[in-house]
Amino acid sequence: MGTIRLTGDDWRLLRDLRLAALADAPHAFGSSLAGEEGLGEADWRRRLAGGLWTVVSPDGVPAGLVGAYVREPDTPMLVSMWVRPGARGLGIGNLLITDVLRWAAENRWSRVVLRVADGNDAARKLFLRHGFEPTGEREPLASDPGVGTELLARVV
Ligand SMILES: CC(C)(COP(=O)(O)OP(=O)(O)OC[C@H]1O[C@@H](n2cnc3c(N)ncnc32)[C@H](O)[C@@H]1OP(=O)(O)O)[C@@H](O)C(=O)NCCC(=O)NCCS
Repeated sequence: MGTIRLTGDDWRLLRDLRLAALADAPHAFGSSLAGEEGLGEADWRRRLAGGLWTVVSPDGVPAGLVGAYVREPDTPMLVSMWVRPGARGLGIGNLLITDVLRWAAENRWSRVVLRVADGNDAARKLFLRHGFEPTGEREPLASDPGVGTELLARVV
């Protein structure tokens, strides 16, 4: 079970996985299905060009997605991690996180950050297992300001 880094021509795959993620787990993400289902080819290509997008496809069927982009100098942010419900608990999340950490190391960045929503215990435990630590830096989830999020960080 390997990881594949997407390139510009994979924009349909990115779109399909991302829209499936937003439909399946709206509570986990800062953006909403309504905000992304109208995006076009140029938007998805721009998103692909703006950072790392990695997919895991056990048996050739794409089942997991993660993104990362450099929002502040030297610090990529892991975003949009999702595994299809039928493929959870198999370690796909591990492969996705590991590829983001590898990408950061390749670029000699010193830290990776991410935001996790309160109550998303499966994701939080997985990130803590991979060495991410709570920072206490909190902000509301953009798609549902009633829900809080916390920034987790890990040294590369
Ligand atoms: C968070 C997520 C990416 C984890 O992916 P994964 O490939 O299942 O990760 P793992 O295989 O390491 O399993 C994570 C946990 O779910 C448990 N799990 C096992 N089978 C499961 C199943 N069928 N469904 C849900 N969780 C399951 C695992 O045992 C593990 O729990 P543990 O930490 O107590 O051992 C996935 O649950 C997901 O896509 N959730 C919705 C979107 C989301 O929350 N994204 C993160 C945003 S910050």
